[in-house]
Amino acid sequence: MNIILLGAPGAGKGTLASKIVDEYKLPHISTGDIFRENIKNQTPIGVVAKSYIDKGQLVPDEVTCQIVEERLTREDCKNGYMLDGFPRTNAQAEALDKITNVELVINIDVDFSLLMGRLCGRRVCKDCGESYHITRLNGATTCSRCGGELYQRKDDNPETVQSRLDVYNAQTAPLIEYYTKQGKIFNVNGSTTPEDVFEKVAEKLNALRK
Ligand code: AP5
Repeated sequence: MNIILLGAPGAGKGTLASKIVDEYKLPHISTGDIFRENIKNQTPIGVVAKSYIDKGQLVPDEVTCQIVEERLTREDCKNGYMLDGFPRTNAQAEALDKITNVELVINIDVDFSLLMGRLCGRRVCKDCGESYHITRLNGATTCSRCGGELYQRKDDNPETVQSRLDVYNAQTAPLIEYYTKQGKIFNVNGSTTPEDVFEKVAEKLNALRK
């Protein structure tokens, strides 16, 4: 299965991805995670990416496309992959169409008024990247999966979140139409619980797998 997770910042792409990985064993390719790893290791890509991510802007297409193209050639993607956060612009979608056949685009559709609260209350595991929300943590400060320490992402502050939402509306939302025209969109209501979202998506993926 070659699938894409599409949705606004905070729609629940990472949360859904974690459940899909557990059930379907697809390699999870998150461009946001790749950039954060590069920033942590202070690589040249990390230095460039940081200057955009800290302002809530997109990293330039050339840099992002090159990373994804290289990643998709690796052995673990031979039988499928799950892209999370890529593509985000028309140019990225067109570049992807040239190198691979996308089968399904899962568009997580969420009431915009929920997103600011979800992102500013998010905590992420330093070790495995699992996402949590403070309202579900009951005061815990470590990851229930691996025991890692939880932290707040630097771009999860009100000002940067607003800029990420504006960028999504201007540059990424048009991809819904792009993939609708290709007949590949599967819309799921992301304003319900993570468990409900996964249940709906699993029905679709099971049908695709047959
Ligand atoms: P990235 O890391 O991809 O961030 P994002 O798209 O802004 O998405 P998030 O990770 O913030 O949200 P999510 O949808 O995964 O939500 P989550 O599941 O964590 O990108 C970061 C930056 O990198 C970008 O701003 C850009 O600069 C750069 N970048 C990345 N890709 C790029 C590209 N292709 N081109 C150029 N630049 C790129 O959930 C959020 C919170 O909500 C959590 O607390 C979670 O517990 C909670 N939650 C999730 N689902 C539910 C639910 N159903 N009900 C209640 N709460 C929920």
